[in-house]
Amino acid sequence: MSKPLIYVTRKLPEELLKPYEEHLQFKMWQEADTPVPQDVLYKEVSKADGILSTITENIDITFLDHASHLKVIANMAVGYDNIDVAAASEHNIIVTNTPDVLTETTADLAFTLLLATARRIVEASQVIKDSSWGDWAPFMLAGSDIHNKTIGIIGMGRIGEAVGRRAKGFGMDILYHNRNRNEKIETELGARYGTFEDVISEADFVVSLIPLTDETKDLFDEQAFSAMKSSAIFINVSRGGVVDEQALYDALQRGVIQAAGLDVFKNEPIDATHPLVDLPNAVLLPHIGSASVQTREKMIKLCLDNISQIFAGKDPLTEVKAKK
Ligand code: GLV
Repeated sequence: MSKPLIYVTRKLPEELLKPYEEHLQFKMWQEADTPVPQDVLYKEVSKADGILSTITENIDITFLDHASHLKVIANMAVGYDNIDVAAASEHNIIVTNTPDVLTETTADLAFTLLLATARRIVEASQVIKDSSWGDWAPFMLAGSDIHNKTIGIIGMGRIGEAVGRRAKGFGMDILYHNRNRNEKIETELGARYGTFEDVISEADFVVSLIPLTDETKDLFDEQAFSAMKSSAIFINVSRGGVVDEQALYDALQRGVIQAAGLDVFKNEPIDATHPLVDLPNAVLLPHIGSASVQTREKMIKLCLDNISQIFAGKDPLTEVKAKK
């Protein structure tokens, strides 16, 4: 019997695939930095038994119509808003993601953005690069404290918990909002649960860690930013789609909130023509939440382990279930 054919949508290090070649055969898009064009993807997926995909592939009904004998979609991300999971399930295709292995790395990045935004690190670095460091001045590049402030975590899942632990280490008070209460974290960190409105209006730092769904689309809108303190700093490391970017732009420009640190955007990639780029109080990163070499390798390995399990007739390790 021939080995199942797995289409890999980005060029990945061969040595990571090698251990799996005894049971699987791979075909790989040969570029690491550019997504596979849609026509090529549809052609390849029509021949594949499995796919190792990334967040740039839009796995919708049209894609699935090309997937005549696909058994598994292993998405190299914890988020899976790029996949129509219900439709995949109707096609009897298993979807997997990469939770846990990226939790700490993504929490590190969320906290990096929080620190960088509060202490104006990017602006400060630019002062030296621009040779514009003048005489000492009492409030030159004065930012906001982090210790003794209140963090409001919206979405207290795995990454939210890991951000909460970092916040506790920095001496912050922790507030959170989540669909369900997380009593474990209340006990562990002394975190206080509140409604979305309570948390965003009381927090000095509002950190978005919620997945993008029909319910969370544009959750951070004009009303939400108006409810925040004028000294609030907004951090988003989840999905750009949870933010109304025009409302955020207006809030930052008019001083409705103080600053924002963003790793994700509505339509990625963005470039220097994006309106937020002109704002000195916005720190912007190109979706690098889980981007450490160690974690990216673990994510790839978890995708391959999920695929292997399925073709060995076993349960996948991290399946995404369609919502009923
Ligand atoms: C990255 O955005 C992920 O969902 O893992």
